[in-house]
Amino acid sequence: MLSNLATRDIETLVHPYTNLDTFRETGPLVLERGQGIYVYDSAGRPYIEGLAGLWCTALGYGNEELVEAAAAQMRKLPFTHLFGGKSHDPAIELAEKLKEIAPVPVSKVFFCNSGSEANDTQIKLVWYMNNGLGRPKKKKIISRQKAYHGVTIASASLTGLPGNHADFDLPIAGILHTSCPHHYRFGQDGESEEAFSARLADDLEQLILREGPETVAAFIAEPVMGAGGVIVPPRGYFEKIMAVCDKYDVFMIADEVICGFGRIGKTFGGDVVGFKPHSVSVAKALSSAYQPIAAVMVPENMYQAMLAESRKIGTFGHGYTYSGHPVAAAVALKTLEIYAREKIVEKVAMKAPQFQAHFKALGDHPLVGEARGIGLIGAVELVADRKTKRSFEAKAGVGARCVAFAQEEGLLTRAVAGDNIALCPPLIISPEEIDDMFAKLKRALDRTLDWAVKEKLLSAA
Ligand SMILES: Cc1ncc(COP(=O)(O)O)c(C=O)c1O
Repeated sequence: MLSNLATRDIETLVHPYTNLDTFRETGPLVLERGQGIYVYDSAGRPYIEGLAGLWCTALGYGNEELVEAAAAQMRKLPFTHLFGGKSHDPAIELAEKLKEIAPVPVSKVFFCNSGSEANDTQIKLVWYMNNGLGRPKKKKIISRQKAYHGVTIASASLTGLPGNHADFDLPIAGILHTSCPHHYRFGQDGESEEAFSARLADDLEQLILREGPETVAAFIAEPVMGAGGVIVPPRGYFEKIMAVCDKYDVFMIADEVICGFGRIGKTFGGDVVGFKPHSVSVAKALSSAYQPIAAVMVPENMYQAMLAESRKIGTFGHGYTYSGHPVAAAVALKTLEIYAREKIVEKVAMKAPQFQAHFKALGDHPLVGEARGIGLIGAVELVADRKTKRSFEAKAGVGARCVAFAQEEGLLTRAVAGDNIALCPPLIISPEEIDDMFAKLKRALDRTLDWAVKEKLLSAA
């Protein structure tokens, strides 16, 4: 029976990324509080937050220092903005800090509230820059199939997942998608990772040549694709892709919204996979999700073009009411201080081998086609036939079933881009908690297998 809160929810809320129809039957899981890596539902049941919320609560729950940073800033100055030359300490200090730790030279920082807004801003800045540089035709942006860059009209267009485009009339014109760097799915028989990377770089080059290099402005990529199924790039990938971008003067944007701040073992994911972009989007772990805040790191040449445009037009006509919100900025500053003081990134690198060994072991499970990951992120891809890599039909809902079993086992996770069950826990997870989390996932997989066998969803062995 649905609780009173659940019934009220169904009558009042539109839930993002939810099958709105089946939800009316199942109702919500109402969470009430959190501590460490655990969240508790309204009946007091604990769950491991296996996806750090939405890949974001890096420092877990109940961090009093972050609470105090927010409260102190709220008491002092709960709001002021950055429009028209106004400013405040937390935004200035946070911008300085980001410049200091940035993976590439950064001239200025522009604040937003979400990853989607950051990537939207990236597109606008590239267009603005190329107008400023007197090349108004150079405007197309290349993203990748299965990329995830957000849900606003422009960032959803960058996203390369069918569910984000279907019947929203997206993508918009001028946004293109090149091949997805998933060797397991798209590598040819016997093709090495290096050869696969070379083929993908060639695909990118052919796309640029077909469109006309004078019309292609930028390329955007997550160092490791998250919501597309946790896809770690094949060997040599970014090196080869960057060479193509350089050849045709294509501006490179790293979407570090998931990878940024330690997730894959270094502060920035690009430094792990060899991606040196021109500009960077960050969000999520920037504030450990205690406040909504995101940022775009702007390089000097882009800033110079923005200056010239601003001189011409009379203003830089972009900005959100809450760009650099003082409470969010204060919390982000404290978050970065904690990462450094607690050596969070170094600890991720130490815990990663244990985490990845668990994933590797799940690779032998009869339901798992590929178990993959890096640092403290990974996924198992569930398949109907391990030999042929045949996926389940979407309507069988195998991933959703596994997620439901995991929830019963006390583990929250999500099935992304099909039947990929992802794990991306708070970075503070302990070695014992890692073991426990994987034991729960294993039980959920076993129960899903039993169910799939009963439903005759698997190919005969
Ligand atoms: C890599 C990446 N970019 C952008 C976004 C969009 O961020 P937001 O949901 O804050 O708009 C996400 C969200 O999951 C993401 O994973």
